[in-house]
Amino acid sequence: MRPLNTRVFTPEQVSEAAAILRRGGLLGIPTETVYGLGADGLNPDAVKAIFAAKGRPQDNPLILHIPTADWLERYCAEVPPQAYALAERFWPGPLTMILRRRPCVPDVVTAGLDTVGMRCPDHPAARAVLTAAGVPVAAPSGNTSGRPSPTCAAHMLEDMNGKIEGIVDGGPCAVGVESTIIDLTAVPPRLLRPGGVSLEQLRAVLGEVAVDGAVSRPLSAGERPRAPGMKYRHYAPRAPVTVVRGSPGAAAAYIRSQIRPGDGVICFEEFAQEYPGCVVESLGSAADKGEQARRVFAALRSFDATSAVRIWAQCPDEVELGLAVCNRLNKAAGFHIVQLPMDAEQRAGE
Ligand code: TXA
Ligand code: MG
Repeated sequence: MRPLNTRVFTPEQVSEAAAILRRGGLLGIPTETVYGLGADGLNPDAVKAIFAAKGRPQDNPLILHIPTADWLERYCAEVPPQAYALAERFWPGPLTMILRRRPCVPDVVTAGLDTVGMRCPDHPAARAVLTAAGVPVAAPSGNTSGRPSPTCAAHMLEDMNGKIEGIVDGGPCAVGVESTIIDLTAVPPRLLRPGGVSLEQLRAVLGEVAVDGAVSRPLSAGERPRAPGMKYRHYAPRAPVTVVRGSPGAAAAYIRSQIRPGDGVICFEEFAQEYPGCVVESLGSAADKGEQARRVFAALRSFDATSAVRIWAQCPDEVELGLAVCNRLNKAAGFHIVQLPMDAEQRAGE
């Protein structure tokens, strides 16, 4: 394919950017979670171009982005009251709901499934693009398939410059990990991907919520994940990653006992000085999971520009936003995890 001249738009130029979507082109869109690679979700040829630009397997469905919850019934059938309860509480925001689809949603969007993922993002530029486009926008994360998701326009351009017509630069993403995915066609509702809305917050609205096994363990041979995307290697830098779980102090001590000069280390800010001779990326303070979520993809991505041959990562506990941060690190590590014995304080919290 001939490279495109990818234009960078400011948020003030949204109507020009949205015109790209209306004529079937690809547009990078800032959202509060990560940057998305958008196309008109009702135009099958435009949607096919997303798969080509990302190198994404065809059996991995896309989610549709809409400006308001009123649009749900246009694309979804049998919308349960739970969907409106969640929309009321969390939309616009980092939550994707899996619902029964209507026939008007092209097969290429859903990879032939009878369900579709719906999300109403909370970023002023995304909302302006959706309103100006006047169509539901199919958008996966704007990375090349397998790489960490982009949390700023520069990271998306690293992967997509020349492959898309434009990108709206809406600054760094406020959440930093992708949306939470909840399957409302399952009974009880099932968490397929942890994200910016926590499991605890979902349970406060829905009551019982099941957690899909693929969230915290690798799939066994032949097992089919409910979110098709969960089966692919994801977020991984070139160098292999090992996640070390345990109290922050114990994990830091373990990593220090293992490192060789030139290794990469992803760690909490409090420990950043403890790995001389290593390539260190700080996730922010051990207590600040919001900051860890904002930084985790940039940290993973940064190692590809270094000569680190192995990467060690500290990881928060799985409470609240920690579940999403852990999930992304574990997936980047291909679930290569060292679990240290828990200390008394952690056991008390289990
Ligand atoms: O925050 C986000 O959700 C970002 C921004 C751009 O909105 N988008 C995003 O899309 O993360 P993507 O395609 O990178 O991840 C969507 C995940 C994939 O794992 C896909 O397999 C799953 O959602 N998915 C999509 N439709 C589904 C469906 N009908 N049933 C189950 N899983 C679905
Ligand atoms: Mg993705």
